[in-house]
Amino acid sequence: MNATAEQIHSETGKTPLVELRDISIAFGGIKAVDHASVDLYPGEVVGLLGHNGAGKSTLIKILSGAYPRDGGQIMINGEEAVINNPRDAKAYGIETIYQTLALADNVDAAANLFLGRELLTPWGTLDDAAMEAAARKVMGRLNPNFRRFKEPVKALSGGQRQSVAIARAILFNARILIMDEPTAALGPQETAQVGELIKQLKKEGIGIFLISHDIHDVFDLADRVTVMKNGQVVGHAKTTDVTKDEVLGMIILGKCPPGATPGPGAARL
Ligand SMILES: Nc1ncnc2c1ncn2[C@@H]1O[C@H](COP(=O)(O)OP(=O)(O)O)[C@@H](O)[C@H]1O
Ligand SMILES: [Mg+2]
Repeated sequence: MNATAEQIHSETGKTPLVELRDISIAFGGIKAVDHASVDLYPGEVVGLLGHNGAGKSTLIKILSGAYPRDGGQIMINGEEAVINNPRDAKAYGIETIYQTLALADNVDAAANLFLGRELLTPWGTLDDAAMEAAARKVMGRLNPNFRRFKEPVKALSGGQRQSVAIARAILFNARILIMDEPTAALGPQETAQVGELIKQLKKEGIGIFLISHDIHDVFDLADRVTVMKNGQVVGHAKTTDVTKDEVLGMIILGKCPPGATPGPGAARL
């Protein structure tokens, strides 16, 4: 049976954590995002897929407050959200992890978690003990095997660095996590580790947009996928209702299979 998110979740009566409705933005004459809609529920992973240039990053940069939009609405927990800059987005619990991770390489995990938001003692000095304790707590939730608290993060593996970046995002109570091409620079083992992190975040009810140009990175981790092409949404599908080949057809040809719900960008066949 075809199922849109609305149908899937109307049974449970849940309100979406995020709904992007009819979002558009043009750069010069180029419609980078053209009336795109996508939603996300608590504890859900939605894979946002499409070729390079499809508009994925631009769409999520509107959610994260990095770009202004020309049109459309952002709903958070069923209410219209006002997001004009990254600070607004963070106030709604939206955190983004970019491919570059933006870690400070020469300092340890705890210092990275509190970068720019350091804990201070009553005397105004850095409270290293409190920051390390908090770092151990959040890393223990995410990646219990992590032991390298005393080392600069440049010494860590790619997967460990990802866990530090994710811990930083969730430390300040992110409910909505955007991961833009998270495994693009990682080997297979590290990619598997990121998969474990994502499963842990789901258990905590965090909703995740997982963005990738490569279906193999996303398909097994995602509950649903939304495919974009030329700025438009080709369609949405539960990953249990479509095959990888069908999703490839959506990405490459814009062809929407029977198990998916077509969007405005679906090819007319
Ligand atoms: N800041 C910008 N200025 C001009 N064009 C941009 C800008 N950001 C993205 N674009 C264009 O918007 C389109 C979508 O890009 P992007 O969202 O990065 O795609 P994706 O993340 O799917 O690879 C592309 O044509 C890209 O060149
Ligand atoms: Mg991108």
